[in-house]
Amino acid sequence: MPHTPDPTLHIVILAAGQGTRMKSRLPKVCHPIAGQAMIRHVVDTALTLGPHVSVVVGHGAEHVKKELADLPVQFVTQSEQLGTGHAVAQALPNIQPDQRVLVLYGDVPLIGADTLRALVTLEQADHLTLLTAQLDDPAGYGRIVRSADNHVTAIVEQKDATADQLAISEINTGFMALPAERLQQWLPRLSSDNAQGEYYLTDLVALAVADQVTVSAVHPEHAMETQGVNNRLQLAQLERWHQQQRAHALMAEGTTLADPARLDQRGTVRAGTDNFIDVNVVLENVTLGSGVTIGPNCVIRNSTLGDGTQVLPNSVIEEATVGANCLVGPFARLRPDAVLAEGAKVGNFVEIKNATIEAGAKVPHLTYVGDARVGAGANIGAGTITCNYDGANKFHTDIGAGAFIGSNSTLVAPVTIEDGAFIGAGSTITKAAPAGKLTLSRSKQLTVPNWQRPTKQPKAGS
Ligand code: UD1
Ligand code: CA
Repeated sequence: MPHTPDPTLHIVILAAGQGTRMKSRLPKVCHPIAGQAMIRHVVDTALTLGPHVSVVVGHGAEHVKKELADLPVQFVTQSEQLGTGHAVAQALPNIQPDQRVLVLYGDVPLIGADTLRALVTLEQADHLTLLTAQLDDPAGYGRIVRSADNHVTAIVEQKDATADQLAISEINTGFMALPAERLQQWLPRLSSDNAQGEYYLTDLVALAVADQVTVSAVHPEHAMETQGVNNRLQLAQLERWHQQQRAHALMAEGTTLADPARLDQRGTVRAGTDNFIDVNVVLENVTLGSGVTIGPNCVIRNSTLGDGTQVLPNSVIEEATVGANCLVGPFARLRPDAVLAEGAKVGNFVEIKNATIEAGAKVPHLTYVGDARVGAGANIGAGTITCNYDGANKFHTDIGAGAFIGSNSTLVAPVTIEDGAFIGAGSTITKAAPAGKLTLSRSKQLTVPNWQRPTKQPKAGS
């Protein structure tokens, strides 16, 4: 069922903290998961729920703002980190009294939209809803205190908890939803009279209970969704979990993976069905047709591969468009604006840059084709180089349909090889080669008569 963003929702994302344990000059929330800043994951998820998103920034604010510059969010600055309650209070001016507020965290990147929907759906007219979880090891988290009849009565922070409270295994994930009107009433009533001297957002629970507002709790679909990142180990753990989820999704859509643990997907990856992906492959912003095979150790970025195309091992493809039924690799490199039409072949140790290889053309080995067109059905011999650069400017090489370039030829651009032209091996071509004719530039072979192979001179004294 498609979900429509809810305009009555205002989502506040806390991202002002420093993240000292990352030991990084980059703000914590800008560290990437699957090639994308953590904060972007959170904002992307938030925007699927509602159009009103405020991001509270502080440490590294400029960097965080830059990271999100293209997204429709409002920034609010918390210049001093006085606690999670204080952080949310900074966003109050953006929030309308008739909205409902959902609090998210920039350093808890993999929270799922379904879990959040459950959180805001349960939030009736006048509820405060918490996302809580049962943990075997609750150390460090705020504990959920319940009454004898099992109602949530408070959240106690680890540092403020009694020994009995420390034994509670239900923890506060930090995610919370409540009506804006209540938030406006309660935030000014928070006190910093606690172990950390901070304004705790979690103290809203006790205020809700005092005002007889129902406090309810929901649980995340997966425990990892509420896992925060404080250090690089946790970052790596979330990356692996995220990759596992994505691999499972890709398989569910009809792609076979040799090993789901040895594929990394970054950005957006789209795939048809009956594809096969071997081990140690990185795909970043890639669209695959159907029946595509990708061999081991390939890196493919910002590219499209058509139906039935085979990429053989150890190939690197960047910003390329590969048509249907092409053969690429092993050890091929497609650079930006390489375009392969249907059935084209680019073999081992071949580099293609800003060049179109038209239908059925073959560049099987040891070749550089840059700033060029290779016409349909043409065949490029091993060791061919398009000399596209004179040290200052780049020039175009045009190779016509059905042309045959003999091995070890240099084509000095700008130059045209007409349709069906045949270039003799070892030629340096600087002028147009006419259609259907053999052109070559090669010094004549000669055999020296009466030549004698040198022999070793005997050493003096021996
Ligand atoms: C908080 C919760 C705790 C919960 C835990 C879950 C409070 C008081 N406690 O504790 O119950 O179990 O999260 O991880 O809320 N932040 C700001 N400005 C501030 C303070 C924090 O933006 O002034 C941001 C931080 O960058 C971070 C998030 O809020 O992303 C949580 O802050 P943190 O200090 O890590 O809270 P915890 O002590 O972990
Ligand atoms: Ca934390």
